[in-house]
Amino acid sequence: MASLPKLSTVVSWLLYLVPIYLFILDPLMRQIFPGSVSIYSDDADDLLPDDAPSGLNLNDSFICLEDGVPFSCPDAADGYRVHLLSREPLVMYLENFLSDAEADHLVNVSVDKYAPSIVTDGKTERLDSSIRLSDRALLDRDDTVRCLEDRARAFQGWRPHLYIERMWAQRYNASGHYRHHYDWSGSWARGGDRVSTFMVYLGADCTGGGTNFPRLSMPRGKQWCRFLECEGDDAEKKQGITFKPIKGNAIFWENLRPDGSGYPETWHAAYPVTSGTKVGLNIWSWYQPPRRGRKA
Ligand SMILES: *[C@@H]1O[C@H](CO)[C@@H](O)[C@H](O)[C@H]1NC(C)=O
Ligand SMILES: *[C@@H]1O[C@H](CO)[C@@H](O)[C@H](O)[C@H]1NC(C)=O
Ligand SMILES: *[C@@H]1O[C@H](CO)[C@@H](O)[C@H](O)[C@H]1NC(C)=O
Repeated sequence: MASLPKLSTVVSWLLYLVPIYLFILDPLMRQIFPGSVSIYSDDADDLLPDDAPSGLNLNDSFICLEDGVPFSCPDAADGYRVHLLSREPLVMYLENFLSDAEADHLVNVSVDKYAPSIVTDGKTERLDSSIRLSDRALLDRDDTVRCLEDRARAFQGWRPHLYIERMWAQRYNASGHYRHHYDWSGSWARGGDRVSTFMVYLGADCTGGGTNFPRLSMPRGKQWCRFLECEGDDAEKKQGITFKPIKGNAIFWENLRPDGSGYPETWHAAYPVTSGTKVGLNIWSWYQPPRRGRKA
């Protein structure tokens, strides 16, 4: 009759099997099934090569560092409504993301700070009004801005290692526009990229100036016509979907696929303002997990 193995034998098997799993089987499975690792999981650092450079300059001229400065938010600050537009990529519409008072305040504090917006190819920055015609203003981190940083973090589930880029107000006069572009640059594997965008309308005393996504398709529900151009032969609705500028409302989308590559569907433009002024606000989030071997 076969006897049960001795306890000491079982223990010595484990001594062999555990390292085999940890150092051979598990890494092998991750190679074979990379889909099981996602930048939206806690294992995201496994996607980065060990020698990935730090793509972020974590200083407070670029990123809203948590500096412990106290701030207070209005009571109804999180009373916005969320409407799901697309799951893949994730696109959500946020109604009353900012109150009128918050939007007015940000428009007011930016007035004296505007300078012409630049375009960048990742290395150099320049003016090019055929691509982008607007003015932009870096916002000081006052109570309203900090409150908004906090709201943007909360919306994204207080995710660790997520950094909010310093916020810029964007002012578009008549004929102001921004040609189709991505907010991501494909630099995830080199150390960081913009994982998500909130495009907020601070001021919408204008005609034209819609935000167009040619590669997203019109949702079925007629209710969307409150937020999207649905009418007639409007040139602005010929391709994809176009959001109307509505003060206080925001569009949120994720820029990166789970493997860190950019979604082509996030290609978007600010259509020309035909009269009046539009003021927008971008809230961009960067995700940068600590590197293995250099966590200190
Ligand atoms: C802070 O980051 C910005 C943007 O990446 C960079 O241009 C600037 O030189 C950095 N400043 C310091 C003091 O490191
Ligand atoms: C913005 O400025 C205008 C004109 O100076 C003023 O009437 C209004 O009260 C200000 N609004 C806020 C929210 O600060
Ligand atoms: C927009 O209008 C303001 C106020 O008239 C002006 O100072 C600014 O230069 C204009 N910006 C652009 C890009 O036309």
